[in-house]
Amino acid sequence: MARVFVTRRLPGGALERLSAAHETEVWPERLPPPRGALHEHTRSAEGLLSMLTDPVDVELIAASPGLRVISNYAVGVDNVDLDAATARSIPVGHTPGVLTESTADLALALMLGISRRLVEGDAFVRAGQWVTWEPELLLGHDLHGATVGIIGFGRIGQAVARRLEGFGCEVLHTSRSGGVGLAELLERSDFVTVHCPLTPETRGLIGVEALRRMKRSAYVVNTARGPIVDSDALRSALVDGEIAGAALDVTDPEPLPSDHPLLEAPNLIVIPHLGSATHATRERMADMAVDNLLAGLAGERMPHCANPQVYETRRA
Ligand code: DGY
Repeated sequence: MARVFVTRRLPGGALERLSAAHETEVWPERLPPPRGALHEHTRSAEGLLSMLTDPVDVELIAASPGLRVISNYAVGVDNVDLDAATARSIPVGHTPGVLTESTADLALALMLGISRRLVEGDAFVRAGQWVTWEPELLLGHDLHGATVGIIGFGRIGQAVARRLEGFGCEVLHTSRSGGVGLAELLERSDFVTVHCPLTPETRGLIGVEALRRMKRSAYVVNTARGPIVDSDALRSALVDGEIAGAALDVTDPEPLPSDHPLLEAPNLIVIPHLGSATHATRERMADMAVDNLLAGLAGERMPHCANPQVYETRRA
């Protein structure tokens, strides 16, 4: 039996399977363990099941000499120092695939939500302002027939493209292996939707210059990682009317404090990182994260490993 630290309760029954096999400690609170507690509880653990809110950095890894498996409850692993884990031959599990369709659904919901002014419309009704049908009330823009630029054409980007076919959209995309250039995508798109991972290259990718290239009638949607869109630049672009609007599931900083200047900008929807937030998807993610952890602790190859080179090193 190994000692395992899980940094939050998870939906479904996956953690029961983990507890049946290993001595499992689950952080019981709503907020993530603060840095000190994360260090204290991981120090004596062999397995760590982390969330995207936990910085699994070089210091944490160095301070946890017995740690031999990390399983991240997310497809993105930008919160984990992969190089530090790999240097210690620690496999890092993640959850690709299972959240693709839910996240793509949400990207479409945000495109429709911002362009058809759903949040404004709801607030309008609740404020008692709906006195009659009006020919020019809350007019928006169509998604059907629009040109949509997808930045990052991996699993989620492609799932978004499949949905957009049904809307008769022209889809442009950028990816490492093809598509159009970023400048062309920004200039031609009515909607720009972000689906690339957060890396040093993509941090701030949608900044002042990128936003200036976009049409004044265009919308930005981000369901990937907050820091890919520069919050200050986005705020200025919305305030100055350089773009028509933005819908964000992820922000920088995250969470976005309620007094953050970005929230004063017009034509903006912000929701709290809900891309994968359906019962079925979050339960599947929990199963996958636990399967990764169990395999790693048993010395077997993880089904979904973000740094598979650890297995090559081991074999050599
Ligand atoms: C992920 O898995 O990376 C998502 O952002 C969590 O919903």
